Amino acid sequence: MIYTVTLNPSLDRIVDIDELIYDDVNRILEEKRLVSGKAISVARVIRGLGGHTCLMGLVGGYNGHEVEGRLISEGIVCDLGKINAETRTNIVIHQRRKKLQTLFSASDPEVAPPELAILYSKLCDIPRDSYVVLSGTLPAGVTENFYAQIITSLAGKNVRVIVDADGEALRRSVMARPFLIKPNIHEFGRLVEKNVKEVKDVIENVEPYLSHTHYIVVSMGARGVVAASETERYHIVPPKVNVKSQIGAGDALVGGLVYALSVGSSFVDALTLGVACGTASTLNAAGAFPSRDGVENIRKEVLVKTI
Ligand SMILES: Nc1ncnc2c1ncn2[C@@H]1O[C@H](COP(=O)(O)OP(=O)(O)OP(=O)(O)O)[C@@H](O)[C@H]1O
Ligand SMILES: [Mg+2]
Repeated sequence: MIYTVTLNPSLDRIVDIDELIYDDVNRILEEKRLVSGKAISVARVIRGLGGHTCLMGLVGGYNGHEVEGRLISEGIVCDLGKINAETRTNIVIHQRRKKLQTLFSASDPEVAPPELAILYSKLCDIPRDSYVVLSGTLPAGVTENFYAQIITSLAGKNVRVIVDADGEALRRSVMARPFLIKPNIHEFGRLVEKNVKEVKDVIENVEPYLSHTHYIVVSMGARGVVAASETERYHIVPPKVNVKSQIGAGDALVGGLVYALSVGSSFVDALTLGVACGTASTLNAAGAFPSRDGVENIRKEVLVKTI
């Protein structure tokens, strides 16, 4: 089982109008509601590949009920803790005539200590030999140390924890010895506090971190990934494609990677599937997920370079 953890999901309302008129009434032509969150995107990709996931995390208020109901309707297995504050709602205004999208990003709900304690104890009960994906930002009231604490609490149970985070949350996670980290190149640069731009810059800077984590996978958008373990170094290059949206490409990469590792694939095969999922996700509008056939076609064109 792969557990994916989202502390800060959102209910996105995508509102279509013709063209925005200020200081006046704007008629809504269409409204869609979507549930989003990085760990939710990861779970969708794993399910699309045929894997089993359980989504854990926090939801609150009426929005939280809607988020949970929508996830259940999608067929995602959920074990969500509850908070008193409302789950955030992002509003996207889509102006059809000008093809413009404007996002109003809501602030995070506050998580109260007892609510966090209940989630924490659920996470500590994750069974032996599972995979866990910790992904995304932490809401107000949750310490940057949270992911690191989970990793520490699960140590000794052969639970393999994958972290996709930034800044202090990532830095502290690394100190707690996760199984795999997946920063993008900017996040990796912030972690190592250097200007990291090229493949060689990544390779030059991974060594000190390999004593803390089995695998480091640095994603580089259209340039694919540079990945390292104690014994292996790869640059995995995707084919050139016509990109529609890069939003969520990193989540698709993590989904493919963790699914492949969970079914016993080698590191290099898991990287290849991950890159294929990431690239396949760019062919669709944000939030739409690639078909298995689409991923398979791209996978055939992924290039593996051993460094
Ligand atoms: N323009 C692109 N062309 C081809 N493949 C891409 C492109 N952008 C992203 N990908 C694929 O998706 C993977 C992850 O992309 P990226 O490095 O942009 O992740 P990220 O910055 O973590 O994204 P996210 O916004 O989801 O956090 C890449 O390794 C690659 O396989
Ligand atoms: Mg990312």
